[in-house]
Amino acid sequence: MIAKTTAQKILSKFPQTNILVVGDLILDKYLWGEVERISPEAPVPIVDVKKETVNLGGACNVAWNISALDGNAFIAGVIGDDENGKILEQLLKEKNINPILVKDTSRPTTEKTRIIAVSQQLMRIDRENRDNLDSKIEENLIEKIKEIIEKIDIIVVSDYGKGVITEKIMNFLKNTGKPVFVDPKPSNVHLYEEITIMTPNKKEAFELAGLPRNMEIEELGKYLMKKLKMKQLLITLGAEGMALFENGKITKIPAKARKVFDVTGAGDTVISVLALARASGGTWEESASLANYAAGYVVGEIGTAVVDRDLLLSLIPEN
Ligand SMILES: Nc1ncnc2c1ncn2[C@@H]1O[C@H](COP(=O)(O)OP(=O)(O)OP(=O)(O)O)[C@@H](O)[C@H]1O
Ligand SMILES: [Mg+2]
Repeated sequence: MIAKTTAQKILSKFPQTNILVVGDLILDKYLWGEVERISPEAPVPIVDVKKETVNLGGACNVAWNISALDGNAFIAGVIGDDENGKILEQLLKEKNINPILVKDTSRPTTEKTRIIAVSQQLMRIDRENRDNLDSKIEENLIEKIKEIIEKIDIIVVSDYGKGVITEKIMNFLKNTGKPVFVDPKPSNVHLYEEITIMTPNKKEAFELAGLPRNMEIEELGKYLMKKLKMKQLLITLGAEGMALFENGKITKIPAKARKVFDVTGAGDTVISVLALARASGGTWEESASLANYAAGYVVGEIGTAVVDRDLLLSLIPEN
């Protein structure tokens, strides 16, 4: 699908790219422990916590993927006026991601805590407010984005449905004249008309189209593109890879077989690499193929993992 020499050429341009990620910022927390007994209080295991870790999640994970591949990553979104907000800011700084943050005192920083024992997730605990941003916060965010928008090559919208991607924000982004790539939340389908490309998984694509699930992927893609007036579409197909729709044709890109450990974050990797490669002059097909290699790697790692340029290049076979 992509020649190694072509991949090398595209990857060499990643440091010159400026990608803005807009969306729902999430702090991922992990409690790692051991289970040795059942609680006397209720029929549940007792987890003896040995380690706590934090990570960038949601739109932040997209920005982290970009920065790990040496692209210049900007992240725009909201945090709460709380300890998690500070942790998130610190993590963004450590990962070399340029923050464009608005503090919203009416909501907590979105937090997802996983409890893991014996390499297995026992439970997830969410703290979040999914209401749409209020108009004052929207305005603040738009004003801040305006300050840097000129240098941006591609905008990536990472919509996890936590209220940042509103009609006003989307209209503003679409009117910047920059390409807009969207990892969609199906319930926000009405916001995505005339974007450059979106990267739903198969289930999301059916929901976005509002069609029954027995339809062929070709028909589904064509219908969705027409419905949302898009010229490009990339439907990810999990273990089957991806289907790229562009220039009136469909290209199936088979997944790279790997031991699958944790599919979390694969979608974030896909849209990150797709944007970086496009901003570096890759064709749609080359860019999707690179994204497929990167995603095939991250599903083999526990938690949300990222790849760097050397690793990504090493995944591509010699012609
Ligand atoms: N089992 C697998 N084997 C190989 N590659 C995989 C597998 N699952 C996912 N991938 C890779 O990851 C990409 C995205 O996966 P998927 O279609 O599951 O996205 P997603 O549901 O949006 O993921 P996420 O959970 O991150 O939102 C696929 O197109 C493929 O490249
Ligand atoms: Mg996804």
